[in-house]
Amino acid sequence: MELTITANGGLAVTPAGGAAVVLHPVWLRERLPDCLVLDPHTGQRLQEAAETPMDLRVTAARIDGTIAFSDGFATRLPAQWLAGMIAPDAPMRHCVHWDGTLARESFPSATMADLRDDPAALGTLLSGLEAYGFALVRGCPLDPDGALEFADLIGPIRVTNWGGIADVKAIPNAYDLTMTPRHLEPHSDNPYRDPVPGYILLHCLTNDADGGDTTLVDGFHAAAILARDNPAAFAALARTEVTFRYRDATTFLEHYGRLIETNAAGEVVQIRYSNRTEMVGRLPLDALDAYYAARAALWRLIAPSSPLTLTFRLQPGEMLVMDNYRLLHGRTGYTLASGSRHLRQCYLDRDTVGSRRRLLQPA
Ligand SMILES: [Fe+2]
Repeated sequence: MELTITANGGLAVTPAGGAAVVLHPVWLRERLPDCLVLDPHTGQRLQEAAETPMDLRVTAARIDGTIAFSDGFATRLPAQWLAGMIAPDAPMRHCVHWDGTLARESFPSATMADLRDDPAALGTLLSGLEAYGFALVRGCPLDPDGALEFADLIGPIRVTNWGGIADVKAIPNAYDLTMTPRHLEPHSDNPYRDPVPGYILLHCLTNDADGGDTTLVDGFHAAAILARDNPAAFAALARTEVTFRYRDATTFLEHYGRLIETNAAGEVVQIRYSNRTEMVGRLPLDALDAYYAARAALWRLIAPSSPLTLTFRLQPGEMLVMDNYRLLHGRTGYTLASGSRHLRQCYLDRDTVGSRRRLLQPA
């Protein structure tokens, strides 16, 4: 590596055989591995970075020697640390798009026995979950709280007004359409909660009624197709904020967001689709026209008849783990007279799953 101080007081670092990377003096200063800048134990910043002089300049720098600044501060400049500072950023996430042709053998999956005994197997499963937006765990205990054995490997489940683990089965006077034998259109769960549940664990106890197959759609793939084929529709869904609402005798939940949520770089980071609970505001008529046309275009991509829909049957002891910010899930209708269908589900927050995945990633 070679170092040069630029005319603006930045530090140009040129790796052997590579191109120079110019580091802003304030950027460099606020992450220097010095016990006055960062706490050595937590790595958290001690100095108020917003008070760093904006006319700060690097005045001297030597690899594995001293770096000095125009305000008199000086510290050591380790080569290995500096190499890390000029390394390319890791991609935000690894994402594999799929459609209805994805074979069951290609699902990210593992047995509960493997996950129980081998942290590396859990790391591989969570990487697959990040890439595909879902994963299948086989051999889960066939008891009502069997999902907990998997959840306990990751972190605490999210407790809601429905409790920790909730039934998914037909009941009289259902409080939600989930609790009927009716088919369920593709949807994301609970966009009326804040935060929206990050991951869904759907644990199958019995599933021998006629019908009741699971359907999944990769919402990111659908959004990518919409952006390519109908950019006006994509833009309308990415800008129109809608409200989602759930109300019963004891609970009134309300949250808002866009059907396609993008980040500052324009990348899709969340899909919300909940026909049961979505209400768009009383917008100007032309904005509503654009929204309704766009919503219909997205629906055509995710509808059960779409080639994007993956259909399969959950077997007793299997548990589906789904990214609720990416996947749209549903089911075919079933007949109560033909057998029983009893699933249980709970939620994990995104940070809980992300934390476990990062901790288990090979260094
Ligand atoms: Fe659901």
